[in-house]
Amino acid sequence: LSRAAFPAGFTFGTAASAYQVEGMAHKDGRGPSIWDAFVKIPGQIANNATGDVTVDEYHRYKDDVDIMKKMNFDAYRFSISWSRIFPEGAGRVNWKGVAYYSRLIDYLIQQGITPYANLYHYDLPEALEKKYNGLLSKQIVEDFANYADFCFKVFGDRVKYWMTFNEPRVVAALGYDDGTFAPGRCSKCSAGNSATEPYIVAHNLILSHAAAVRRYREKYQAQQKGRIGILLDFVWYEPLTDSKDDQDAAQRSRDFHIGWFLHPIIYGEYPKSMQVIVRERLPRFTEEEIKIVKGSIDYVGINQYTAYYISNPQHPNQGNPTRYQSDWNAQFWYERNGVPIGPRAHSTWLYIVPWGMYKAVTYVKEHYGNPVVILSENGMDDPGNVTLRQGLHDTVRINYYRSYISQLKRAIDDGAHVIGYFAWSLLDNFEWRSGYTSRFGLVYIDYKTLQRYPKMSAYWFRQVLQRAEGMDGA
Ligand code: GCO
Repeated sequence: LSRAAFPAGFTFGTAASAYQVEGMAHKDGRGPSIWDAFVKIPGQIANNATGDVTVDEYHRYKDDVDIMKKMNFDAYRFSISWSRIFPEGAGRVNWKGVAYYSRLIDYLIQQGITPYANLYHYDLPEALEKKYNGLLSKQIVEDFANYADFCFKVFGDRVKYWMTFNEPRVVAALGYDDGTFAPGRCSKCSAGNSATEPYIVAHNLILSHAAAVRRYREKYQAQQKGRIGILLDFVWYEPLTDSKDDQDAAQRSRDFHIGWFLHPIIYGEYPKSMQVIVRERLPRFTEEEIKIVKGSIDYVGINQYTAYYISNPQHPNQGNPTRYQSDWNAQFWYERNGVPIGPRAHSTWLYIVPWGMYKAVTYVKEHYGNPVVILSENGMDDPGNVTLRQGLHDTVRINYYRSYISQLKRAIDDGAHVIGYFAWSLLDNFEWRSGYTSRFGLVYIDYKTLQRYPKMSAYWFRQVLQRAEGMDGA
């Protein structure tokens, strides 16, 4: 595998998010986000860890950019913490926060690394949650568009790749159905809010995305010449058997997963299966909304890690404790006839299934008119307690990347319009509910000293990404 195997101009980078790497959560004027509130609830996060300090990228960003450069990466996908810019979500600007992102962006560019800025990675300003229930309210649309507009204005001279939201499906489903992500609503409920809240939140996220894109296009794009998109997670769902029922269940799963967001953005409406199942609980787009939602991306980011088998449950609602999950109505399997779909990484949800990458990317090509795609996250984790010695010797991770990137290349060779690839993540970091018990980095963090130690996988990328003048690239 080598860079030379990819189309000219193809970008390789790493991805991270503000709350997971910055630290300085309560300093330099940053207001709290819903994750700051969520991590305080005892028992939500492994070892009750927080992102208060995490890997301290706020102070160490130069070291981190230097590592990216050394490993021959072209780009860095980071996220902007909304409440670091607007501590109350709207109104007053925290200029220290603006200065931080400016320093980061300038240093990236100085080192030849292209900044890719994501506006939202789960960290809604807590003030807006308190003021009007955050994403459940339509008021979010205007506040998000204003925040985005401000970022375009102050950073858009240097940032040419924008992303509105990271994984809105995760926000809607984990935040408002099973309650395992902030703001933790409807945890393990058997009825009630899970019937509507995930759909309302998803709808507001789509409208907020579209409003921000419209601002960008109307006020900035012609002059700044950047591109804007959204980031969607996409687990590949493979039917457990050839039966019609299982195939339908797998298709329904893709609809309830990526289709929920990509369908409106490409076609102006929710997938038919969702309309039929969710009926009056699924919000409708008005004619006006369709105009701004449809076509509201220059590219779509896809976060792809894993794949599962899907069957139609034998009995409806079997194993589906919430209303939202019973709408979806699919049964997940990690094996077929006793054969696992792939080896498991550390996280319980993460099975190593490289062919899922090919199928997921090809599916988007075939079902959504071959949009421009950025493969915006891909990676695997080791347990938090591996020693430095064990951690550095990450041959499983090298194999993961080699095989997934090869499958991505196969999809590109077959015509998928993919322009970039981002590994998750450069550094070990705060992994949401798992806290520091999961290590996704190409670089090992000693959490006592916050020293950075590149793993073998980092050196593997360095070699693969070498600019190939006169080299065969191995
Ligand atoms: C995301 C992801 C990341 C995770 C990564 C590993 O939403 O983009 O949740 O933040 O850290 O996917 O689980």
